[in-house]
Amino acid sequence: MNYRTNKVVSSAPAKVILFGEHFVVYSNPAIVAAINKRISVQAQVNDKSRINIKSGENSLSVPVISKEELITANDNSLLFLHPIFKCVKHILSEKDLLSVGINLDIDSQIPYGEGLGSSAASCVSTVAALYSLFSNRDRNLIYETARIMEQNIHTNSSGIDCYVSTFGGIVNFEPNKGFSNIRPKKKFTLLVGTTGVKHSTGEVVSEVRQFRQRNSSIFKDLSIKAHVVCKRAMNSIYEGNEMELGNMLTENHKLLSRLGVSHPKIEKLIENCLDNGALGAKLTGAGKGGAIIALIPNDISKEILTRISRGSGKWMLVEFDYDGVVFG
Ligand code: MEV
Repeated sequence: MNYRTNKVVSSAPAKVILFGEHFVVYSNPAIVAAINKRISVQAQVNDKSRINIKSGENSLSVPVISKEELITANDNSLLFLHPIFKCVKHILSEKDLLSVGINLDIDSQIPYGEGLGSSAASCVSTVAALYSLFSNRDRNLIYETARIMEQNIHTNSSGIDCYVSTFGGIVNFEPNKGFSNIRPKKKFTLLVGTTGVKHSTGEVVSEVRQFRQRNSSIFKDLSIKAHVVCKRAMNSIYEGNEMELGNMLTENHKLLSRLGVSHPKIEKLIENCLDNGALGAKLTGAGKGGAIIALIPNDISKEILTRISRGSGKWMLVEFDYDGVVFG
């Protein structure tokens, strides 16, 4: 198998789920957007049969034959490297290249375990960098491999995170129709706030599965409502109707709270946003901690950001990313 010996670089964006998380796992629609926070992976083959990963202060150097449990077992500080390690192992064995190793340098702007798709973006950027070593930059293949890796980490995941991280943009997912791009009629200003409370997507998804088993009629009712909210939100994006979009965010959040995936810190951040002029706010991603998004009026976004930032949480104004995974 031929491969490049020089360094290759690729990066992939974080995501926010605008509407429909959790319900999408059970065939409901969802709207997801890539945002301008990225993880970048620099990869190079080494002849030491070792996987060497460096990310800021953290580093890992292990023989290629090491098992994944090495990362998932004891050391929580290395957990964020799990998707990266998994992708490297998978691709080396797919290419039958177990006699070489890989050096990886990771540079991430995406907080780990906070609902912003760090695990999906790690899979997408690592798979892209490694395939690039074999001169293959096909986005569909990158998406398929990253999706399988992510689904292996977060059993039962829907695949939407990897899709939007690979292709970018604002994407509508319909269970029977697949993915389609949405072009908003006007610019929306989105604020992301993080609670600092880390969660495991896989665990929250299985808690929701148990909730659904125990409360099937409540779950069904919430799903129907979430479906309606998603459709109305879609129209308001197309029509550029900020007020309606904000209301739909808050409505979606109420449904997620009833599903049991909110958290006191999320509720506090949302209240702070709504009290200070946001048009609507909701948790984003798996919940039980993690991040929230708030829609704020374009013309006074800086003032509102200043007011909101006085409360707890870490805040950032984000832009939508239309590039998805990029090389170099
Ligand atoms: C996680 O970002 C979104 C969930 O809906 C799970 C999934 O869709 O895979 C909670």
